[in-house]
Amino acid sequence: MRTLDDLDVDGKRVLVRVDFNVPLDGARTITDDTRIQAALPTLTELRERGAAQLVLLAHLGRPKGVDPALSLAPVAARLGELLGEDVALAPDPESVGDGAVSMVENVRFFDGETKNDPALAQRYAALADVYVDDAFGAAHRAHSSNEAVARLLPSAAGRLLQREVETLRGIIAEPKRPLVAVVGGAKVTDKIGVIDAFLEIADTILVGGAMCFPFFKAQGHEVGASLCEEEGVAPAERALLDSGGKLHLPQDLVIGQGFSADTEHRALDAVDVPDGWMGLDVGPRTAAAYAQEILNAGTVFWNGPMGAFELEPFAAGTRAVADAVAETAATTVVGGGDSAAALTQFGLADRVTHLSTGGGASLELLEGKALPGVEVLES
Ligand code: 3PG
Ligand code: MG
Repeated sequence: MRTLDDLDVDGKRVLVRVDFNVPLDGARTITDDTRIQAALPTLTELRERGAAQLVLLAHLGRPKGVDPALSLAPVAARLGELLGEDVALAPDPESVGDGAVSMVENVRFFDGETKNDPALAQRYAALADVYVDDAFGAAHRAHSSNEAVARLLPSAAGRLLQREVETLRGIIAEPKRPLVAVVGGAKVTDKIGVIDAFLEIADTILVGGAMCFPFFKAQGHEVGASLCEEEGVAPAERALLDSGGKLHLPQDLVIGQGFSADTEHRALDAVDVPDGWMGLDVGPRTAAAYAQEILNAGTVFWNGPMGAFELEPFAAGTRAVADAVAETAATTVVGGGDSAAALTQFGLADRVTHLSTGGGASLELLEGKALPGVEVLES
């Protein structure tokens, strides 16, 4: 993959695709600016190496056409604060001025962006002499701002994209063993690809979150009122058959009567969930066993919470995994999304080897799928 080491940027106008798809609250305030911070090394390096102008492209949410609620205005303002200078926001590529750092509005406001339209890519390319892609979180998409445009200018990966790809490929290629994968979250169908990949390369796979219920159902357990993805049962059953003893499921649960912090709840020293109850966290025996596997690992990959960690009575399982990931001497890599949010909530985000800024992108890379945004930088 071509990187910044292969690109001459001195005196050049540089178009930089970043993933600034950050969470916003109702007042359009950024609640977590990790992804903006993560692009700073690339932006700083480009400026130190004499880039004449930086023009940034980014998406926010999934608008269909122009949607003021998904304007990048709060993002441009936050970037300006972090860089210590004004970042102008242009409504379209043709309106970009000659400020040192500018952003174009949400690329998903423009027709053709998500169809990888080459005509739109031309409008982006006209802004610069060279192109840098640092948007790892969007690398599994083939869109005009990360794929088509990379074909039109001398192009290379920024430092974030480079580090993400090197770290995640390293887990597959030569992990320190044992390699332990901790996979949680709500849906088996979201994670079955990565479970299959880890059945090949990992030593142990620890499953948690609501996605354990399709596994339990496949084993003939009662799931009660638990969130249990029906389409997940068949793939779960198949993964269990293929697992060769690598796949570990919870041995106990914390159950509640509803999805709220003040619902009646109790520990259940089994996995058959009674009628009217739902499993909302792994139990204390499971949490301790999973923590021990993590502490004994050489490499840990973690994606997805063990339970409804945003509700205090059901946070202990995810907390135990997060603490063990922070404590262990293993190389630790955490996939984006909810596991990253959990680490941040527990104040442990700086205690991992690599916290990926990509959710879907990191999973697809580990599944062995080609990422269009990466492939185009290798061709
Ligand atoms: C993400 O937040 O997962 C990335 O920015 C990609 O966004 P998308 O799933 O809307 O393409
Ligand atoms: Mg996503």
